[in-house]
Amino acid sequence: MSRPAKANSNGDARHDGLGSGTGPTDMVETHAIGTSLERADGRLKVMGTAPYAFEQRVERPVYLHPVQSAIARGRVRTIDTAAAERVEGVIAVITHQTAAKLASRDNPELWVLQSDEIHFRGQFIAAVVAESLEAARQAADLVRVEYDEPGHDVRFHAGRDDIYAPKVVNPSYPTDTDEGDAAAAFNAAQVKVDATYSTPMEYNQPMEPHSTVALWDEKKLTLYDSTQSAHSVRKAMATTLGLSPDQVRVVSPYVGGGFGSKGEPHAHNALVALAALRVPGRAVKLALTRQQMFTLAGHRTPTIQRFRLGATPDGRLTAIIHEVIEHTSRFKEFAEQTAVPTRIMYEAPNRRTRHRLAALDVPKPSWMRAPGETPGMFAGEVAMDELAVACGLDPIELRARNEPERDPESGKPWGSRHLVDCLREGARRFGWGGRDPRPRQRAGAGWLFGTGVASATYPRYVLLGSRAAIRMGEDGRYTVGIGAADLGTGTWTSLAQIAADALGCPVAAVRLEIGDTDQPNATVAGGSSGISSWGWAIVAAARELRRLHGTRPSPGAEASAETPKPPTDETFAQHSFGAQFAEVRVNAETGEVRVARMLGVFSAGRIINPRLARSQLIGGMTMGLSMALHEEGVMDERLGQVINHDLAGYHIATCADAVNLEAVWLQEVDDRSTPMGSRGIGEIGIVGAAAAIANAVYHATGKRVRNLPITPDKLLT
Ligand code: MOS
Repeated sequence: MSRPAKANSNGDARHDGLGSGTGPTDMVETHAIGTSLERADGRLKVMGTAPYAFEQRVERPVYLHPVQSAIARGRVRTIDTAAAERVEGVIAVITHQTAAKLASRDNPELWVLQSDEIHFRGQFIAAVVAESLEAARQAADLVRVEYDEPGHDVRFHAGRDDIYAPKVVNPSYPTDTDEGDAAAAFNAAQVKVDATYSTPMEYNQPMEPHSTVALWDEKKLTLYDSTQSAHSVRKAMATTLGLSPDQVRVVSPYVGGGFGSKGEPHAHNALVALAALRVPGRAVKLALTRQQMFTLAGHRTPTIQRFRLGATPDGRLTAIIHEVIEHTSRFKEFAEQTAVPTRIMYEAPNRRTRHRLAALDVPKPSWMRAPGETPGMFAGEVAMDELAVACGLDPIELRARNEPERDPESGKPWGSRHLVDCLREGARRFGWGGRDPRPRQRAGAGWLFGTGVASATYPRYVLLGSRAAIRMGEDGRYTVGIGAADLGTGTWTSLAQIAADALGCPVAAVRLEIGDTDQPNATVAGGSSGISSWGWAIVAAARELRRLHGTRPSPGAEASAETPKPPTDETFAQHSFGAQFAEVRVNAETGEVRVARMLGVFSAGRIINPRLARSQLIGGMTMGLSMALHEEGVMDERLGQVINHDLAGYHIATCADAVNLEAVWLQEVDDRSTPMGSRGIGEIGIVGAAAAIANAVYHATGKRVRNLPITPDKLLT
């Protein structure tokens, strides 16, 4: 059963006394879960000895530098590699004319160097392999290319006549939903909000670039890769190259961030693998440059979102309409689920959601932290703030009045829904009481001050397909193997904690092995599903070990098990919720916005490791702050390319921007979600953060900025 949340938590390192009597039935509870263990990999990382993909030791490496298309659409007419081949140290120059044929086009993104077609500017059109990185790069510059250039189209706007409805939105939600007659209800409403919001192209840009080292020894391909899913990379590479999965090994013990951009293999994986096949016995190294990452590692689609809310004068919603336009690449569709969170947030008898796409000559958009929820909840939660103003209601009270009893979409009861608890607890901690709702009331020394609030939500996902294997060793320690990923999130630590509780042993008695396809299959570190899915497999394997070998297994005892299909998925709607609060000051002369403080209050089930959870949540909030004020990929429509494609031109928040962020959570054990009682925390921290800041900017200035980012020019006009 899900126990009611008690609103008193903080991010400190204490277990709240959830004993074995109240814990999940198949866990033994050594109190490893809930303690703030230091990162198991922290020391290695600080000392610089944790091997990231590019740093893995290999004998006699060679280096790959790609040649990228200088047009956004068309064909390679001629490609002259003679000068490149003459550069000293060059081993091979591979083009679509000379590359090995790939076996499968299932994933068009991985179909590299197979034809003369060009789908976006910056696409790989050749690769140079050389004894040194310098030689490879110099030679790549000498490849001469002529193009057939019919012209491209990267213009993203709502007036296009070729906007279409995808069949589903990521990963498999319906494209459109309708309940009642939303248009009629909106037209008849006494209070209305009808506004259009937009968010720009945004870029994941993890600190570690996408990197792969590939070695083909004539029998087996080994990839040292920076990925959120070693097993997904193996599967995709085997399919693409026409190898059997056991001919491909992917090793990825440490990953320097991903935020979704390393959740699936990209073109560089296939390119470096093709090169490795060309030079058997030599390890080929490739790290994308920062600029290449803006083209070849995915991005968040821009969105144009029309939101219409109809309500009674006392703030009861009668109609919710959320209509979204996004872009996608022409060669492979990605449809972000921007309006999906709107389907569950608030009660209203009449609702409509729509997703529409413009297919352009752009690189493929992809996952970026909380795809869907992040841009969708920006629009929805600013719209709710606008409705609160229109009704003359406190924005927290407005949300509380529209709290649904059940999931409005499926009719299922909530596994856990503590949104209002989060809002009220946040109000208490933040000092929301007594807030003057009128904008532009607080000023001093040339600055305007304001506060804002927004809701957060993220689904509880459990993915099927992970397996954990446990073996008792001669030294009395358990080896727990699962091919899970730690992209900086703390998996090394928190999975060991889960294993210790499941096995009834100290954490020091667990030797965790992750990040390698030599371990049992694991699903992606994505959708905040990692700990839920892998942790469940470990709990199941521990239970199996006890069933087979009792509670004190002898050396050599072993067992394995898969994540089961969650029995509650059919009966409950399972989501996390949260409340984001922000205080800003806006310079009355220059329009500069500073975020003075932020508070996030979350209900995410049981927290496995408070120290790491706080870091995840604050990281998400920082990314949301960055989205609110800084991040914007600017398309050069003439070139068909994001023009600010480096971290000088594409601004992200720095430490000086994120000065006073706090994240807390409700004490909660949600046994409906997972046997650990947890629901996942990687993404909810970003959701709603930008809306809270935008709402605070409105409160400070009286100016409603609906188009992110909130740059000074938008406040001065
Ligand atoms: Mo996350 S964007 O699902 O890796």
